[in-house]
Amino acid sequence: MSNPLQPRPAVRNMAPYTPPTGNRAGKLRLDFNENTIGCSPRVIAALQRYLSADALTVYPEYMDAMRELASFFVVAPGELLLSNGTDEAIQVLINTFIDHGDDVLLLKPSYAMYRFYAEVAGADVREMEYREHDLAFPLEELLAAVRPETKAILIANPNNPTGTGVSVDGVRRILQAAPDAAVLIDEAYYEFSGVTVLPLLREYPNLFVSRTFSKVYGMAAMRCGCLFSNVENVRWMHKAQSPYSVNMLAAVAARAAVQDREYVANYVKEVLSARDFACDGLRKLGIPFYPSQANFVLFQAGERAIPIRDALREKGVLVRDRSYEIPGCVRVTIGTRGQIVRFLTELESLWIK
Ligand SMILES: Cc1ncc(COP(=O)(O)O)c(C=O)c1O
Repeated sequence: MSNPLQPRPAVRNMAPYTPPTGNRAGKLRLDFNENTIGCSPRVIAALQRYLSADALTVYPEYMDAMRELASFFVVAPGELLLSNGTDEAIQVLINTFIDHGDDVLLLKPSYAMYRFYAEVAGADVREMEYREHDLAFPLEELLAAVRPETKAILIANPNNPTGTGVSVDGVRRILQAAPDAAVLIDEAYYEFSGVTVLPLLREYPNLFVSRTFSKVYGMAAMRCGCLFSNVENVRWMHKAQSPYSVNMLAAVAARAAVQDREYVANYVKEVLSARDFACDGLRKLGIPFYPSQANFVLFQAGERAIPIRDALREKGVLVRDRSYEIPGCVRVTIGTRGQIVRFLTELESLWIK
């Protein structure tokens, strides 16, 4: 009998990441920062038009999607890499530019997949903490932590789960302080914050920007994202990416999604107003929260974080416990005002018991 196979040490030693995605159907899903009303009907219509046995026999052809997405994002097609969600964008960036033992700077707490892929690659990960008092972006601390050998800095802007962000000027300072590092600005929640560094692409050869169709566009199941950088960087990443990692249904859906600007604008408007409403509601209940630039709000439930999460689930409302990384904190996704009324009503009934 042979011994069981052993994975690489980097894989053996990495922290597991298993998001709680089970049993969510039929509940009010305020736990994953998804769009809470679904994608534009134009996306469904485009998929229905596309679906045929003949279409499914063919390997993906991305040309039309690339051209239209590049035009929508106002970049050249060569500055865009289509990806299987932001997750693959992060993976391809790391596979292309990061070697075992390389210095990679992250922030804490932040989106888990940066650490995940950096650890799979065997990188040397250092994490700078968001400021304790208000969870503000630790710009000065990050700048001071950059070393000449730093190979990558991965930042969500605005950040998940804090909801806080860094300004365009702040990003410029990071890009200038780390000219030899790949600096990723993950703009998964851009539509809610309105802050983007995409126009800086041609100024900084070390800048990478990602966008996703999983959040405002309501297409998390499709797994589609875009990674932008200068033409040369994109060429290298293309070389390191599997040629058909984005399935054709996702490419068709993405094309249709960007055509319905009005749908997205209306949803953003609704969410921003519901976010104000949620913050007012939390204030009235005397529950502290962190002001957010995204479609979610992190609030302080203290020792009741997990019991509140569980009791809300019993009532059919899903929120996400984050107390394992920020003591006492729970994150609620902001949807429509009607959905937030329901969340606040259930929360109030539990809170004042
Ligand atoms: C900051 C951030 N980036 C990316 C993602 C996921 O993006 P995708 O579904 O495109 O892989 C998330 C999801 O929660 C996120 O919070």
